[in-house]
Amino acid sequence: MRSGRMNVNELLHYTGEMRLSVDLQTFLPELKNRFEQYVKQFASPDPDVQAVLDLKQAHTRRVCEAILDIGGHEGLSGEELRMAEAAALLHDIGRFEQYRKYKTFSDIRSENHALLGVKVIGENRILEGIDPGKAKVIIRAVECHNRAALPVGENSRGLLFMKLLRDADKVDIWRVVTDYYRNAHRERNQTIELNLPDEPEISDSVCRSLMKGNIVQMTDIRTLNDFKLLQIGWIYDVNFRRTFQIVKEKGYLGQIRGALPENSIRIAEVYERALAFLNLKRRF
Ligand SMILES: [Fe+2]
Repeated sequence: MRSGRMNVNELLHYTGEMRLSVDLQTFLPELKNRFEQYVKQFASPDPDVQAVLDLKQAHTRRVCEAILDIGGHEGLSGEELRMAEAAALLHDIGRFEQYRKYKTFSDIRSENHALLGVKVIGENRILEGIDPGKAKVIIRAVECHNRAALPVGENSRGLLFMKLLRDADKVDIWRVVTDYYRNAHRERNQTIELNLPDEPEISDSVCRSLMKGNIVQMTDIRTLNDFKLLQIGWIYDVNFRRTFQIVKEKGYLGQIRGALPENSIRIAEVYERALAFLNLKRRF
């Protein structure tokens, strides 16, 4: 065995009599480096394309911050918290290839970006060097982060990281969309609006789901207002008290409501129900 002063690269390339896998404390800087290197190849001279990529990288950074916040409040520390951070760092890695190939972030119009991300992680050996058991948990969290619901039959450890990632991702998407709605009168962004028509209608199926306390299926979305209601309904898919607290502190639901037509009774009912749910959950 060589001295303990090997750096990460030496450790990863070390092929002694025993196969080494480094812990995440040692591996995380290398993982961040691999992520940066991977993303760099998508850099574009077109400022519009580059702005979209920058937005995704900023989102990734903030999801990392959110998962550390939520995970820390839920009592995670050390290696577990770093596994959560690794999952957050990689969760949208498929977005870069998706945008290059299809020029959209709409999974319906292209392909599932979470599955694409899992492929990218494998093909580029992004997690090579860490314990295979930990890599599997991280990859499963990435794979399931955008599913309508958590997978059935997953073990409790796997579920924990999936729930953390889904909450952290939602926290930052709420930030992105509320930021956008505040400024949308200045410049429209079809990437955020998913090319949906900005018409006054809202769909019955969307309201019905929300009044039952269920999340909305993407396939029920017809207008931009439906999509805003879907974003209010994410509150029914939040897992941790800290996440409810963040949503309350930032006033995300109220801000989305403010971007919807004022005089619709159905919208008012959907909003009041979601707000009551939030107020109940953030306390317990
Ligand atoms: Fe995300």
